[in-house]
Amino acid sequence: TEVEAADDGLDLAEGESHMHREMHEQPISAERMLRGRLDARFGTSHLGGLNLDARDLRAVKRVKILGCGSAYYVGQMGAQLIEELARVPADAEAASEFRYRNPIIEPDTLYVAVSQSGETIDTLLAVQEIQRKGGRVLGLVNVVGSAIARAVDGGVYLHAGPEVAVASTKALTSMFLGFALLALQLGRVRDLSIADGQRIVAGLEALPGQLKEALDLEPQLADVARRLAEAPSLFFVGRVRGYPVAREGAQKLKEISYRHAEAYQTSELKHGPLALISPAVPTVALVPDDELAERNVGALHEIAARGGPLVVVTHAGVDLGDLETSEAVDLTRIDVPRNEAELDPVLMTVPLQLLAYHASLHLGLDVDKPRNLAKSVTVE
Ligand code: AGP
Repeated sequence: TEVEAADDGLDLAEGESHMHREMHEQPISAERMLRGRLDARFGTSHLGGLNLDARDLRAVKRVKILGCGSAYYVGQMGAQLIEELARVPADAEAASEFRYRNPIIEPDTLYVAVSQSGETIDTLLAVQEIQRKGGRVLGLVNVVGSAIARAVDGGVYLHAGPEVAVASTKALTSMFLGFALLALQLGRVRDLSIADGQRIVAGLEALPGQLKEALDLEPQLADVARRLAEAPSLFFVGRVRGYPVAREGAQKLKEISYRHAEAYQTSELKHGPLALISPAVPTVALVPDDELAERNVGALHEIAARGGPLVVVTHAGVDLGDLETSEAVDLTRIDVPRNEAELDPVLMTVPLQLLAYHASLHLGLDVDKPRNLAKSVTVE
């Protein structure tokens, strides 16, 4: 067993995995990511390394985010945050595909490359392709001095500290926060009101504590994981803000527990995959307390009617109706702490990390070093 000091002063306990420690570092690493970067008075953020002034930020007409794997999924969360807070069209794309479709690079598009290691070759080559065509790229990178950090035209370090486990956890949280900080700046040079900016700043200030509360759900998730680990195949479903969370949840489970998991938009189930739902195929559903909650619950009834076991990651206020009371429905409810709706996705990822972790543990697998995978993919 490895016993070593973490940079956050948390020790790796005898027999503890890196992934376990890194999940539990999230309240600390999130706080470090935000430290000195929030401006409560003006409802905005300070990001020194962007190399962009207010006029440059105002000239941005589009944001295109590039990353691989989980970094791509967090990029999708980030794109939604930017659209919601700044009302600038934004989307995320897998960096590994980007350069092969001869992408159109526009001068008023802000490109953002997101990477924990800063060494992912597909992301680095995407950065270089954009720059070759005259585009400006910002980096959201964890490892200081890494290839992507050196290549980009400006950026923000994630300050997550070393991440050793192949399954990324704390770096992803910091990526999400990086997008929130960027969205605030882009928003506050446009139409995001000072009051809305302050609302988001207050939400961000509350996040580290709420990440801790979400991590405290661990015993409940360990129970659920033991049951789900026996299923050969699972669905993870969510809508709009919840969809990238579902993708990330499915990815984590595949990576470290080798279970087949598929992420789907809840609204798309009825267009095909509902045919696969049965008592042998559980669904993990993200149902935040937002304008889609009722519709989401409607879709859960479709799953329950086919005997599909449900794990619902939701908020305390959401009424799941007879799904909770009916003897015939196999339902586990997980209530995560509630923040501002725009920031909720990051809190919803935590139970999914715990789920994948405990499924892997239960199956006796190597949590930190899953088969066939490397921490950073430096060859094509
Ligand atoms: C995350 O759990 C995965 N190990 C993987 O998808 C990872 O996020 C991806 O390879 C990108 O890595 P990077 O952030 O170092 O660029």
